[in-house]
Amino acid sequence: MQIVLFGPPGAGKGTQAKYISEEFNVPHISTGDILRENVREGTALGKKAKAYMDKGELVPDAILIDIVKDRLQKPDTKKGFLLDGFPRTLRQAEALDAILDDINKSIDVVVNVDVGDNEIIRRLSGRRTCRSCQATYHVRANPPKVPGICDQCGGELYQRADDTEAAIKHRIEVYKKQTQPLIEYYKKKGLLVDIDGEREIDEVRADIISTLKRFQ
Ligand code: AP5
Ligand code: ZN
Repeated sequence: MQIVLFGPPGAGKGTQAKYISEEFNVPHISTGDILRENVREGTALGKKAKAYMDKGELVPDAILIDIVKDRLQKPDTKKGFLLDGFPRTLRQAEALDAILDDINKSIDVVVNVDVGDNEIIRRLSGRRTCRSCQATYHVRANPPKVPGICDQCGGELYQRADDTEAAIKHRIEVYKKQTQPLIEYYKKKGLLVDIDGEREIDEVRADIISTLKRFQ
C-alpha cells in the first residue's frame, strides 16, 4: 500500500507513522528524519538544510525531490511505503506523481491528520526526541518511564532546535501558506481522508488503522 501521511507540524505524524508502518509492513519514510540524520552526520546536505530547519523554513524543493526519488528506488518500497512530511508544496506533489508514474506506482490514500494551532503549540513545546533512535515523547501526554531517558533504547532525550516557540509559530505559518493548499490537490484526486488528530494517541491510531484497512 502507498500511503501519504499529511498534517500540520506536531499533528502526531511521526507518532502514528510507527504504528502504521508496523501494521501494514511498509517502510516509514520521513523526510524530516532523513534531513536530521544528515545534519547529525554533518553531510553537505545536512549543512545546507540545517539553517532552514532551525528557523522552521522549508528546505528547497529540488533537494527534497532528489531525496525522495532516491529513497523510492530502494527495494524495500516494492511492497509499498508510508511517506511522512513529503510532499509539502505543490511542486513536490507534482514531482511525486511523476516519480511514481516512472516506477508504475500511485498513491492509494492520503491521510490528513487534523489538529488546531493551540494543540500544536502545546504538543511541540512538550516534545522530547531520542538522540539515538529518534523515538518521540511528550512531557505530559506520553512521558518516558524515566525522565530524560528513552524507554526503547536508553538514549538521551533532547528538545529539537525547531521546537522553540518562535520556530513553532513560523512552522505553522509556513504550513498554512505552502502545505495546506495540497489538501485541495488531493481532495480533487479523491485520495484524501480526514482524521481528527485531537484525541488520545490510541484513539487516533485505531481510527487511522481501521480507515486504512478499507484501502488494502
Ligand atoms: P518534520 O520532521 O517533518 O517536522 P513536522 O512536519 O513539523 O512534523 P513534526 O515532526 O514536528 O511533528 P509530527 O506531526 O511528526 O508530530 P509528533 O508525532 O512528533 O520536518 C522538520 C523540518 O525539516 C521542516 O520544518 C523543514 O525545514 C524540513 N523538511 C522536512 N520535510 C520537508 C519537505 N518535504 N520539504 C521541505 N522541507 C522539509 O508529535 C508531536 C508531539 O505531540 C510529540 O511530543 C508527541 O508525543 C505528542 N503527541 C502525538 N500525538 C499526540 C496525541 N494524540 N495527543 C497528545 N500528544 C500527542
Ligand atoms: Zn531511543
